[in-house]
Amino acid sequence: MENRFEHLREEIVKRIKESLTVEDIELIRNNYLSKKGILSQEMAKMRDLSPEERPLFGKVINEIKGLVEELLITRLTEIKDKVLLEKMGSEKIDVTIPGDSIRIGSIHPLMQVIEDLEDFFIAQGFEVKEGPEVESDYYNFEMMNFEKGHPARDMQDTFYIDAETLLRTHTSPVQARVMLEKKGDSVKIICPGKTYRRDEDDPTHSHQFMQIEGLVIDKDISFANLKDTLLKMVRHLFGNDREIRMRPSYFPFVEPGVEVDVVYTKDDGTKGYIEVLGAGLVHPNVLKMGGYDPKKFSGFAFGIGVERIAILKYGIEDIRNFYTNDMRFLNQFKGDLS
Ligand code: FA5
Repeated sequence: MENRFEHLREEIVKRIKESLTVEDIELIRNNYLSKKGILSQEMAKMRDLSPEERPLFGKVINEIKGLVEELLITRLTEIKDKVLLEKMGSEKIDVTIPGDSIRIGSIHPLMQVIEDLEDFFIAQGFEVKEGPEVESDYYNFEMMNFEKGHPARDMQDTFYIDAETLLRTHTSPVQARVMLEKKGDSVKIICPGKTYRRDEDDPTHSHQFMQIEGLVIDKDISFANLKDTLLKMVRHLFGNDREIRMRPSYFPFVEPGVEVDVVYTKDDGTKGYIEVLGAGLVHPNVLKMGGYDPKKFSGFAFGIGVERIAILKYGIEDIRNFYTNDMRFLNQFKGDLS
């Protein structure tokens, strides 16, 4: 008997030593230790033995079982460690491989114009304000001296949400909001933002565009202050020799009102004008509604078309380029993002 078990023990130890994978270990465990495995089959033979022989027989098989279990665990750990080491060896990080380049975005040309003008106006002592794009008829029109049914409302054909709510047609309602907020104190603000009109899209008109509103209220504000501010702004944008042209115009919220064109040289060398903003002295009714006494206070206001400035500054042929997200167009405005 001893000899037979000695042989079996050697056979198992050899197989465990030679095993190379986790699957080999499982196979050996199954072969020898499972319910139907070789050692269980040997144990079953105990029934045929005499009562004197059984204890020794059982002891030997249990010893072999214990040994096999121990050896299997040790070998399994060795195999797993080896696999791990091999994996770590093959996954070495090569720090010299060039990394994936990160695509850096850039500031949209319209935002570049806005940021440039914000810097310009902040340096002149202006505050930057914001207002809602979904606006009430009250602020967009009535507080701006367009009463209900006023014919000048037709100049700003509008996207209505309901009878009293609309997408603002200009940034001018922010004038009224700021006046009420300032409660009679002097005002010196700009407000950049999006505006919407049911205009037909063409090379210089878009149904969505941007404006920068400006409002200054103080004692003794005159038209000369307005012209000085606008000329300085145009020269900041386009150089010290750039001229502007002011044409009388009508906006219900200013008196007098003007439209301002910037002079530019066309491809054929002749002079051209592009309208970039509307402006004027704040109408007494608007001052009154905003809580200012027109006998004591006066003011000027302007509304700049941001796309028109960008068109002139960068020589853009069609306003729609700003809104179609064509990377070939946008990549031309990649500048320093610092
Ligand atoms: C106004 O919107 C007035 N709120 C401006 C103003 C403010 C006047 C304060 C007096 C005092 P107007 O409709 O002209 O005015 O528009 C102002 C500027 O916005 C225009 O000069 C033009 O540069 C730009 N603009 C107007 N409509 C469009 C459009 N559909 N697409 C692109 N730019 C436009």
